[in-house]
Amino acid sequence: MGKDVIVACDFASAEKTYEFLDLFTERKPFVKIGMELFYAEGPKIVKEIKKRGHKIFLDLKLHDIPNTVKKSMAVLSNLDVDITNLHAGGTVRMMEAALEGLTREDGTRPLLIAVTQLTSTDQEAMENDLLIKEPIDKVVMHYAKNAKTAGLDGVVCSPLEAEKVHDTCGKDFLTITPGVRFADGDIGDQKRVMTPAEAKKIGSDYIVVGRPITAASDPVTAYNRCFEEFVD
Ligand code: C5P
Repeated sequence: MGKDVIVACDFASAEKTYEFLDLFTERKPFVKIGMELFYAEGPKIVKEIKKRGHKIFLDLKLHDIPNTVKKSMAVLSNLDVDITNLHAGGTVRMMEAALEGLTREDGTRPLLIAVTQLTSTDQEAMENDLLIKEPIDKVVMHYAKNAKTAGLDGVVCSPLEAEKVHDTCGKDFLTITPGVRFADGDIGDQKRVMTPAEAKKIGSDYIVVGRPITAASDPVTAYNRCFEEFVD
């Protein structure tokens, strides 16, 4: 799989999601299904979107004891998703167990990506709530290295961190970057943003784009614009 635009389908129901996906009659976007939609609709929404011809990033961010994560990953692997993820904070052993669970009998598996520190966690929260006293950048890179050591395929990170992740973990270690906005668009609640063209330039492998596409008056045109800036 090469560079691609992943559309965050942050809808509350299957009905709203299909209404949106029905707009795409030519190129079928890579779709991100998050907790809200998955918890509302269950595994059948994953199977249905897959059947419609979309690739799927199932964003459930698993974090539990290694054995539980391993068995849960085996279930997600059976759903035939293309990418799934977990929290690197669950330790290297948990990530290794996840990879084992995800790997099918024939050796194939979905890509497995780690979330390092959530972008909602700042230095102050990390120090006071988690008792981690190191600078946040160092913590993010350490978690990325742990993910690489465990054999994972990459991390979710801010587009501003993608270059450093590649320098630290290698060019082939994937960076999936949210926080993408058009140069002339509304940034909403995202704080540190980049345009699709800038994300391409700094070497991001996949961009995750939600509202600039889902809330656009013409979502197909907005998606095509993203695709042209980032992929073509
Ligand atoms: O609508 P918007 O483009 O901001 O959506 C971005 C998507 O990426 C959302 O699904 C959001 O939960 C997700 N995300 C993010 N920042 C992170 C991790 C995930 O915006 N650090």
